Amino acid sequence: MLLEEHLDGIDKGIKSIILNVAEKSKEIQKAFFSHNMLAGTKNVYGEQQLELDKFADKLVLSAMENSEMVKNLASEEQSEIVQIVKCKGDYGVVVDPLDGVSCVKTNLSVGTILGVFDEGAVLEKGKKMDAAMYVLYGPLTSLVYTAKDGVHEFVLNPKNKFELRAENIKIPEKGKLYGSGGFRREWPKKHLEFIERLHKEKYKLRFSGSFTADFQQILSYGGVFSYPATKSYPNGKLRLLFECNPVSFITKHAGGDSTNGKKSILEIKPEKISQRTPIYVGGKKETELAEKILK
Ligand code: F6P
Ligand code: MN
Repeated sequence: MLLEEHLDGIDKGIKSIILNVAEKSKEIQKAFFSHNMLAGTKNVYGEQQLELDKFADKLVLSAMENSEMVKNLASEEQSEIVQIVKCKGDYGVVVDPLDGVSCVKTNLSVGTILGVFDEGAVLEKGKKMDAAMYVLYGPLTSLVYTAKDGVHEFVLNPKNKFELRAENIKIPEKGKLYGSGGFRREWPKKHLEFIERLHKEKYKLRFSGSFTADFQQILSYGGVFSYPATKSYPNGKLRLLFECNPVSFITKHAGGDSTNGKKSILEIKPEKISQRTPIYVGGKKETELAEKILK
């Protein structure tokens, strides 16, 4: 089954947003070959920005314009919310156009992450999202989405169409993978305690430096991905709006959970678009354990 067929029956606005992103993701995928040069500029967070980030950002914006359904767009590559004047719908979209970009150089998987709210909202609790998705550019280019009716994965086939790979994905409960970002020496004591508990229970480390890819491991095999508060990143490194919320929303619909150590990621009311948060995301038992230790 193709993506457009699978999306039949869901809200037309959300369908249009997902399909337009799917189309542009094909161009992003091709750009890994054509744009593999450093632009030498920094994004609003002071991180090195590849030309590719900007290219992906532009493509996502044009996907939103083409859908004519999006009123407000908050992108990790923009310091302000972009208002799209020519639109018939009133969705609000949050996006990380190219997550894990440092992995492009080493040819590891990277992603495009996106969340959709109604009523033009972007500074809203993640639990209020209507849909979330990501595209993972790996050996396969795959698209994972939920519109609150299960989590489904599609892969780009040789005919350049997204075809169904897995329907109603659930995070395996018995999986034992974990990932943790940040320098070990900068981890808070309680985070170290959590990781040591996982070690004791024979969890195996997987960490690539690309959140989308590292999360896909957890979605496929089970376990937990984390990026705690550290000395360098006292509020965590990952962004609540663009990375943590869409992935946490997908996780919830795949039977898993997420927390900042104290409460669900999806319950955090963001105060600014650049907000960061510590994150623990994956299986229910692992996120419960994280909360038990960190609270
Ligand atoms: O977007 C931020 C990001 O690139 C994530 O994709 C990834 O999980 C994280 O940073 C990796 O951070 P670090 O290099 O500190 O391990
Ligand atoms: Mn990112």
